Amino acid sequence: MKQRLCIAALALAVLTVSLIVPGNAQKKGETRPLTSSQLMAGLVKPQLGVLQEGLKEAPADDEAWKKLATAAALLNESGHAMMADGRCPDEVWKQACRILDEASVKTLKLIEKKDAEGALESIAGITAACKHCHTEHKYKKK
Ligand code: HEC
Repeated sequence: MKQRLCIAALALAVLTVSLIVPGNAQKKGETRPLTSSQLMAGLVKPQLGVLQEGLKEAPADDEAWKKLATAAALLNESGHAMMADGRCPDEVWKQACRILDEASVKTLKLIEKKDAEGALESIAGITAACKHCHTEHKYKKK
């Protein structure tokens, strides 16, 4: 009997710890299969790269501008995906997604105006969103 109580107490302790310690929730939404890691590696990071690379010099033609607009819009969408499907755990996450939303919209508007210099500067707003969330929520690789 005593042993059973011990096991129950241990199970409860493990459950409590797993709820408090970050690293389990937010790795994935509640119902859809995409993990946060896949979202970052497959969408967020590559599209940020498209902006950073594509704005090093003034884009050469409409095709290049189009690619930049797509990247900014996809980054914007990724912020909404991060808020969806029960993925958002707290205010920090929510704020980071709001920063990402505003900064990517701003960048997109500058791209639509073909303001290369302005758009390049506005990337800092986007990376501020990455930092805001990662400071609290990026889990260390095992
Ligand atoms: C709202 C929170 C949030 C925002 C905003 C965010 N990230 Fe992340 N990011 C995460 C979380 C959570 C992980 C860890 C995922 C895991 O390992 O389960 C992560 C992991 C990553 C990784 C590692 C992916 C891998 O290979 O496992 C990269 C790269 C990354 N983020 C890039 C970015 C960039 C670039 C931005 C900004 C444009 C950004 N992130 C914005 C939450 C965020």
